[in-house]
Amino acid sequence: MKHLVDTLRDSHHLSDEGYEALLTSDDAQLVAHLHHEARRVATSVFGHGIFVRGLIELTNVCRNDCYYCGIRRSNTALPRYILTHEQVMQSCQAGYELGFRTFVLQGGELPREKASWIAGLVADIRASWSDCAITLSLGEWERKDYELFRRAGADRYLLRHETVTPAHYALLHPSGMSLDNRLRCLNDLRDLGFQTGTGIMVGSPGQTVAHLVADIKFIERFEPQMIGLGPFIPQAETPLGKYPAGSADVTTRLYSIFRLMFPHALIPSTTALNTLDPEGRVMGIHAGANVVMPNLTPAGERGLYTLYDGKSATDPAEGLARLEAQLAGIGYHIDWGRGDYRESTKTL
Ligand code: 5AD
Repeated sequence: MKHLVDTLRDSHHLSDEGYEALLTSDDAQLVAHLHHEARRVATSVFGHGIFVRGLIELTNVCRNDCYYCGIRRSNTALPRYILTHEQVMQSCQAGYELGFRTFVLQGGELPREKASWIAGLVADIRASWSDCAITLSLGEWERKDYELFRRAGADRYLLRHETVTPAHYALLHPSGMSLDNRLRCLNDLRDLGFQTGTGIMVGSPGQTVAHLVADIKFIERFEPQMIGLGPFIPQAETPLGKYPAGSADVTTRLYSIFRLMFPHALIPSTTALNTLDPEGRVMGIHAGANVVMPNLTPAGERGLYTLYDGKSATDPAEGLARLEAQLAGIGYHIDWGRGDYRESTKTL
């Protein structure tokens, strides 16, 4: 079955059955070959540099109520915060001094009237650090709001579709939310010129291999510049808090599949994977991931962005030192560039 990996590497596409086989095979040699080829493709495009993004968790306030997410509106056990404009600027400054050239503002979905406040924040970051990329990961908004964010100077937007199968989407989200609206958002974002990222939680409750294949094919059609994948991890205060966590094995297989499909894509080795397995970050890089997102959120709020249980809240400088050592240990290093999506002319 090794030919499946070679076909995917050479043609960037497989049949449904091919994807299914790569996801489910218990042939350890096949899985090793999958990771090996994905890593080879990643290093031929990016060298041994790993891009870093400074993650600023803007708020744990959320108007939405996703059944899996610890910051869902109905979780009354959680103290809520919104970073002040000042705090965000200070986090960027600290991040800039550490060397970061991409800031990711991630958070729950703020009330709609906060759109202009967000745009003002983006404009200020853009004016203060003109050499940095600004990524937003703030959920679903109207097209006019995305337009406001884009005009203020945001370059990239991360919005996972979570699952492209409507019945599965309905299992994970309350009835006021719809897959159609999520896809509308993604199309608007791309149309507005954002480098766009999407993705899924791996092993979310009710997820089947057929769902995963459908998600792979959706991503194949959408051609995002960034692909975010992490295992589902239960959060006790949520309706899905008693379901088991997703698997690191399937998550890293997906990293490799997407790397072979999209040699130039920006694929983070996610915090969720590293939460599930202390070696997760390295496993992700060895499977072809090329981005890590250290946390720059101010210390006082850092522990309150509890999407799932067990999420670490390390100090930025300390986290960075550990990351550098960890990368050096496997022959990689931090690439301090902005790390925009680029179709390189290098032949693979
Ligand atoms: N486990 C893993 N990932 C989660 N997310 C939200 N809740 C969880 C959870 N319990 C992910 C979603 C969302 C991203 C910001 O965090 O995929 O898009």
